[in-house]
Amino acid sequence: EKDGHDWFMRKEILEQPRAVADSLLGRRTPSGSLHLDEMRLDDDELREVTKIIIIAAGTSFYAGMVAKYAIEHWCRISVEVELASEFRYRDPILDNSTLVVAISQSGETADTLQAIRHARSQRSKVLAICNTNGSTIPRESDAVIYTHAGPEIGVASTKGYLTQLVACYLLALYLAQVKGTMYGDEVDGVMTQLEAMPEAVAQTLETAPQVYELAREYADRRAFLFLGRHAGYPVALEGALKLKELAYLHAEGFAAGELKHGPIALVEEGLPIWCIVPPRGRDFLHDKMRSGIMEVRARGARTIALVEEGDDSVDSVSDSIIRLPRVPVLLQPLVAVVPLQLFACQLATELGLDVDQPRNLAKSVTVE
Ligand code: F6R
Repeated sequence: EKDGHDWFMRKEILEQPRAVADSLLGRRTPSGSLHLDEMRLDDDELREVTKIIIIAAGTSFYAGMVAKYAIEHWCRISVEVELASEFRYRDPILDNSTLVVAISQSGETADTLQAIRHARSQRSKVLAICNTNGSTIPRESDAVIYTHAGPEIGVASTKGYLTQLVACYLLALYLAQVKGTMYGDEVDGVMTQLEAMPEAVAQTLETAPQVYELAREYADRRAFLFLGRHAGYPVALEGALKLKELAYLHAEGFAAGELKHGPIALVEEGLPIWCIVPPRGRDFLHDKMRSGIMEVRARGARTIALVEEGDDSVDSVSDSIIRLPRVPVLLQPLVAVVPLQLFACQLATELGLDVDQPRNLAKSVTVE
């Protein structure tokens, strides 16, 4: 069942090209428009949406953070992203023009379920993004976009996360189509870019030997930092979460622009820092990230850069370079997270830990 792999997690990481492809399957109609089969909200309802609140926990929350960048850019609707466990207890402002999007791989997370019950009691429409057919959260939602990751057995979410990202992009494009904030051929263009992602993820998986070597090199460290900007920021948070969960290490993700507001004080000689470098198409982001890398390296950090191929501008300030395929900035999380998953899986393996059943964790958290 593990197909000869040591862990379900490793198998599931390697399955991601297929999981992404399956989650994209059958979404285009012959006329070229985007179609989501279980979108039970009609277009008029969706056109009335003035605010979106995304609620989720853990890794699913980080998928929601990426969704905010895409939805706001493509649809011009403001998006809040909130931890389900906080949302429920803060008296949020909800009405029938608010769309609540609940993201949950298992569909059973108690905090997220309580949050959608509350949202519906306030007359908000709820759309679920879920990987588990017939689970409670989609059953209690007005609409659902199913991801097609297949069963995820490793406790740490990997293919679940990538397919959640795909569902978020599909939702964003669908809303843009309905609201008319993108032309049909623009939606089509992004769909074509998305359809190239299974291949890009497969290409990223080829970095595994290099990433495993890094895991061996850094297996004795007790702390790691992850830096990103824009859509790379949630990826930094996700990379850190994977290391905490699996290797029981202190790992923190930061928005690179926040460094000088405090976190840079953590940097000391030899501290490994993963740096997610945005594609060069966004020069202002890219150059700022580069100066962030220079700042931490000047203070003794060991920098490991995730950079698109063809970009050698950070080579001189990086101790290691992992090359990513060239993809648009908003889609970069789909590839950038992959080496971080491989790294956490391998580092925990090096430490002799149980990757599929980390201590103190359960696959679905059905208590609040
Ligand atoms: C991280 C992880 C957890 C879950 C979180 C939400 O690897 O697995 O952080 O992402 O418990 O679970 P779902 O998506 O099932 O609601």
